[in-house]
Amino acid sequence: MATKLFLILPFITLLIPSGFAQCNKEKALPYFRRSVYEFSLNLISRIAQENENHFVASGLSPWTLLSAVSLGAADDTLDEIRQVLRLHRHKCFNSKFFELAQDLTAGDEDTVLERSSTCFVDNRLPLNQVFRDRIKKTKITGLEELQFDDFTVVANTINNYVSAATHGNINEIVEPAELQGVYIILIDALFFKGAWKHQFSPEETEYSAFYDERGNQIGDVQLMFRNHKVNYTYVNQIGASALELPYGTNDRFSMLLLLPQQGNTVSSVLDNMKSITLSTIFKLFEQTGLENVVIQIPRFTITSELNNMKEWLTDMGLKTMFDSNLAKFPDISDYSLYISEIVQKATVTVNEEGTEASVVTAAEFEGRSMSPQFTANRPFLFMIVDKQLELALFTGAYSKPSAI
Ligand SMILES: *[C@@H]1O[C@H](CO)[C@@H](O)[C@H](O)[C@H]1NC(C)=O
Repeated sequence: MATKLFLILPFITLLIPSGFAQCNKEKALPYFRRSVYEFSLNLISRIAQENENHFVASGLSPWTLLSAVSLGAADDTLDEIRQVLRLHRHKCFNSKFFELAQDLTAGDEDTVLERSSTCFVDNRLPLNQVFRDRIKKTKITGLEELQFDDFTVVANTINNYVSAATHGNINEIVEPAELQGVYIILIDALFFKGAWKHQFSPEETEYSAFYDERGNQIGDVQLMFRNHKVNYTYVNQIGASALELPYGTNDRFSMLLLLPQQGNTVSSVLDNMKSITLSTIFKLFEQTGLENVVIQIPRFTITSELNNMKEWLTDMGLKTMFDSNLAKFPDISDYSLYISEIVQKATVTVNEEGTEASVVTAAEFEGRSMSPQFTANRPFLFMIVDKQLELALFTGAYSKPSAI
């Protein structure tokens, strides 16, 4: 008699979605990176366009904020968030994203990264328990319930929160008049402060001309100078040289500077970034090894107030969440709700400072004339990256010179 076959195993296999069994932080990290990277580039391209390539912003911050919002969304609103944020189709992976987002806090005496996120809710709005539970479980955002009746008091509370979260760098984000008819305000603040691993010497900083992308002089900057062994490479796919300046001593945070090749533009570099990832650049660094480079970059501060976030996100496909008739947040409240505002302000300061004494030695100046030059005296892009998570925390561009 022939052997009987019991076709049970295949069914059991089918019941376990592939990869699901291995849902852990390590497995989720590559998805998290790719989702955040693609979403961020999409958003940053729009921000760059509308801010004449002079801005600083974070794609990561709205990404995490919107994934918090997804915890209360349903139907089209949820589908759109999933699509635009490129959330993983398995719930388990998404919960790992929330855990990874919590790793976005780090600090020692040289570098500080803080993410503060809070959902301010009018306490006359009955919140569903399921939403409270999910927020509590994921810790993706705080929840603060206030009575939105005295708008001055509420605005002060929110502004004080933001001021504390940014160590006094941003003091006002809402005005009382803007609170009319508002039930929920989501705020996400990302604060980074880093001292260079190897500081620039202020005595070497010089006034210098700054040019636009056609080579016309458009102003002056204070150009910092350093000659140092750094990660430096030409990235063919984006038509720009990349340079890495590490922060602090823990090798976690760096600034990546991307200088478009002569004749190329910031817009085109941003566009072509879509065809690579951050690890493309890191791998090139690895292959090239450290190189002695004559580094010249301007000292600068940029603060961007991104009030058009709503428009950009709608444009990217989040069509219903801002619409009073179409938004679906049944898990937040039985009341019909929509998101009235998403606010982001970002600020970055780049100067000579470093906590470590300069390790630039005379020996490193050897062969100075032979060294490649990285002279950022024309528009360039910069990213503050977390090398551990391989994520861009902030992305910005500099193209409007001022000698500060
Ligand atoms: C250079 O890049 C490699 C690869 O990402 C990294 O391991 C190394 O720490 C970097 N070194 C410096 C000095 O930035």
